[in-house]
Amino acid sequence: MLKNSKNVFAVVLILAIWFVSTSYAQTKTIKDGVFTEAQVAAGQNAYEANCNVCHDIKFYRDIWKGWVDRPLLNFWYIIVAEMPADNPGSLLDAEYTNIVANILSEMGFPSGDMELDPNIGMDEINIVAP
Ligand code: HEC
Repeated sequence: MLKNSKNVFAVVLILAIWFVSTSYAQTKTIKDGVFTEAQVAAGQNAYEANCNVCHDIKFYRDIWKGWVDRPLLNFWYIIVAEMPADNPGSLLDAEYTNIVANILSEMGFPSGDMELDPNIGMDEINIVAP
């Protein structure tokens, strides 16, 4: 009996370690190539058409500190909900996503093979300083 409960304890401990290590492994940052070059290119046109009139890229350098350590999905969501300030929510989700890819690229973060998608794991991509 005593031996059995020790085994159960060992199994629970192993599961706990496995769980913690895999959840750490899932946390990405915006330095991990989380958007594609194609999204950046598409986002550049959308940015110029819808955002550039009020914010140039320097704007993001100024506000970035307030976004560090928050999920990229929150950044995406606030832009969807509030921007363009004169017509919030007027773009397609994919256009907003491309715009975010373009902003990240302009900030100096690397593109990669992974397509940025607000429905897939964007809540687990952390914003970090450039
Ligand atoms: C008509 C002007 C205007 C347009 C167009 C516009 N914005 Fe804004 N934006 C504002 C204003 C005003 C604020 C709030 C004041 C500030 O932070 O400077 C703001 C704030 C922001 C913020 C900061 C949010 C925060 O709380 O940190 C982001 C990010 C942003 N805009 C991105 C965009 C993007 C991306 C677009 C294009 C889709 C866009 N804006 C289009 C005027 C505009």
